[in-house]
Amino acid sequence: MSQIKKIGVIGAGNMGSGIVQKIAQEGIPVVMIDTKDEFVQKGLNNIKTLLQEGVERKLFKPEKVAEILSRITATTDFEAVRDADLIIEAVFENKAVKIELFKKLDALCSEKTILATNTSSFYVREFAEQISRPDRFVGLHYFYHPAKNRLLEVIPHAETSPETIEKSLLAAKLHGKTAILVKDAPGFAVNRFFVPFLNEAVRMLEEGIADISTIEEASKRAFKIGMGPFQLMNVTGIPIAVHAATTLGDELGPFYAPCNRLKAQMEKKENWNLDGAVDESRIQAVSDRMYGVCLGVSAALVDEGVASIEDTDRGAKIGLRWTFGPFEIMNRIGIDKTYTAVQAISEKYPDFKFPELLKRQKQLGKPFEFNLVDVVIKDGIATLTLNRPEAMNALNEQVVAQLGSRFTDAESCPDVKAIVIQGAGKAFVAGADIRYFVNKIKADRISDIVDFTRKGHEVFLKIENSSKLTIALLDGLSLGGGSELALACQAIVATSAGSMAFPETGIGIYPGLGGMLRLTRQVGPELAKYYVFTGANISAQDAKDMGIVQKLVDPADIPDAIQSLVSEGRPDKYRYRALPGRFKPLADMFTMNLVSSWLEGKVPESIPADSGAKTLKTIGFKAPLALKISAEIIDKQNGKSMTEAVEIELNNLSTIFATADALEGLSTAGRKRPEFKGV
Ligand SMILES: NC(=O)c1ccc[n+]([C@@H]2O[C@H](COP(=O)([O-])OP(=O)(O)OC[C@H]3O[C@@H](n4cnc5c(N)ncnc54)[C@H](O)[C@@H]3O)[C@@H](O)[C@H]2O)c1
Repeated sequence: MSQIKKIGVIGAGNMGSGIVQKIAQEGIPVVMIDTKDEFVQKGLNNIKTLLQEGVERKLFKPEKVAEILSRITATTDFEAVRDADLIIEAVFENKAVKIELFKKLDALCSEKTILATNTSSFYVREFAEQISRPDRFVGLHYFYHPAKNRLLEVIPHAETSPETIEKSLLAAKLHGKTAILVKDAPGFAVNRFFVPFLNEAVRMLEEGIADISTIEEASKRAFKIGMGPFQLMNVTGIPIAVHAATTLGDELGPFYAPCNRLKAQMEKKENWNLDGAVDESRIQAVSDRMYGVCLGVSAALVDEGVASIEDTDRGAKIGLRWTFGPFEIMNRIGIDKTYTAVQAISEKYPDFKFPELLKRQKQLGKPFEFNLVDVVIKDGIATLTLNRPEAMNALNEQVVAQLGSRFTDAESCPDVKAIVIQGAGKAFVAGADIRYFVNKIKADRISDIVDFTRKGHEVFLKIENSSKLTIALLDGLSLGGGSELALACQAIVATSAGSMAFPETGIGIYPGLGGMLRLTRQVGPELAKYYVFTGANISAQDAKDMGIVQKLVDPADIPDAIQSLVSEGRPDKYRYRALPGRFKPLADMFTMNLVSSWLEGKVPESIPADSGAKTLKTIGFKAPLALKISAEIIDKQNGKSMTEAVEIELNNLSTIFATADALEGLSTAGRKRPEFKGV
């Protein structure tokens, strides 16, 4: 079984120390090695400085920093990585240095050890072919700063074994990375389209198409980004751009090679001067050309099988923090416009071949469709991954529709015994897409919200009533609709990172996808009201203690936990259970006769003053109407069949979404505290 219990990182420089920090932060023991004590210490000091900043910004408590540091072994002694499960190389970008290092590690390390390179410019296979374990060799390409940027390109070469890919993806998940699978090709996925984006900006300057400030502004508007190409180069270093473009140009041809003006700027050792007025008359020409290059290259890389359209977009959104990925941009500006812009580029640069993918899409005459729910079937278990990590897998119309159809397909597969539902990246599912709700309310289309929720219920009921065992893998945060999806599954396997919460009343609405109903049937109406009224977090341990979670395990033990659930058979999630005593005071606060006091803004007399005042304060931040309707729904659902109870929930949606408080809560969510008026 896949296990990642110890990781080694070689090189304690900018990348290495950041990778080590992230691994230790996520709870995995890690060894950091460099050639001299002073380099090791420098790396360690970088980590300490960043963690200290985290304490000052209240991201960590000092005890947490001590705990993180205790997981790091910093040394010059290679013996310390002999038994590591995975070793990530982050030494100088020098082929000979890296080859020598990999030979040494290959001879030293145990059979199980996977070796990985963080190279930016060499092929992964160039190192793999120098050692005796090419099947256990992979590229893991991090993005600066690796403790903060969540993207990780996982790059198998032709001989990397499926087990190594699986373990690499597991390792990515375990240290909080969102992995995209990329072919061993120049620039991998992200630099392949990002570096030409930078280079083309300078080419336009060189050709006198526009000045720097105009190119900056046009790019920012076209790609909806905060920094344009010149400012980005000033921040990350012009030599890095030249180096990356040189590598791409050597492998892929002159279209990718750095232009003279870019090289000259590097030689001058000066940053770009961003001052100057924007020439509006040149904006269109610049943005068309930036689109042509960036979108054309993105389509080309997908054509070549370097990455999928979804992973290319994820690369842009997570790795570069763009608002939209290249394929989303193509859909936004239209396939016809994209086609014209890319055609102009392929005419200008004879070595840039027009991508077939775009030809096909133009013929189809419709936008790209994204796959948001991935399916893998292995050993009788279908795993459905909600794959929208940049939005914490939030549920929208597309996700729900795809979840429904993928689920039906998996269910109809005779070999499938169980269906596991999980989220990509760090979160399970962070609820429903709030922007969607706001847009629908503003467009006076609340009936669309009702239809969307009805479809969600249909899918959730199918999951709950399936003849196959359905399991939610709650190994990250879930909120609202995400917690409701987990509750709809027949069983839940969680790790300590898993959690549930119902924050809806704090944004003016109520949990509309069966959360109240299913929570009530498991733990009773009083506790359900407590969690809906307060939005309190239900930790994985709490959920286990209440019998909502069947198995609470370490990440490495997830496959075993799923297997044992499959052999035990479908649990009765609505069985009667006695709850641990610590939940009694919470339930006692919300017995039927006390709810009206809370709704009137008073602590019920029977409740101890201190805990009562605290709870009242929390409830005071919620939308009064949402609270009232939630309590009514929970009461009305009592004794009803599942389908009747679902209708009760659906019947109140038009009312709640039409309130001023719903619009206030949803449109301020995550930005500022809403001001509810009770209407
Ligand atoms: N900087 C980036 O944005 C970025 C992004 C992705 C990948 N990379 C790649 O990551 C790697 C490291 O880059 P960096 O920016 O951290 O470099 P760096 O110069 O900051 O650090 C390299 C470290 O490796 C150590 N080192 C060199 N040879 C060694 C050996 N044989 N054994 C042990 N330690 C050794 C050096 O002493 C140094 O501390 C490079 O391959 C680079 O291309 C960099």
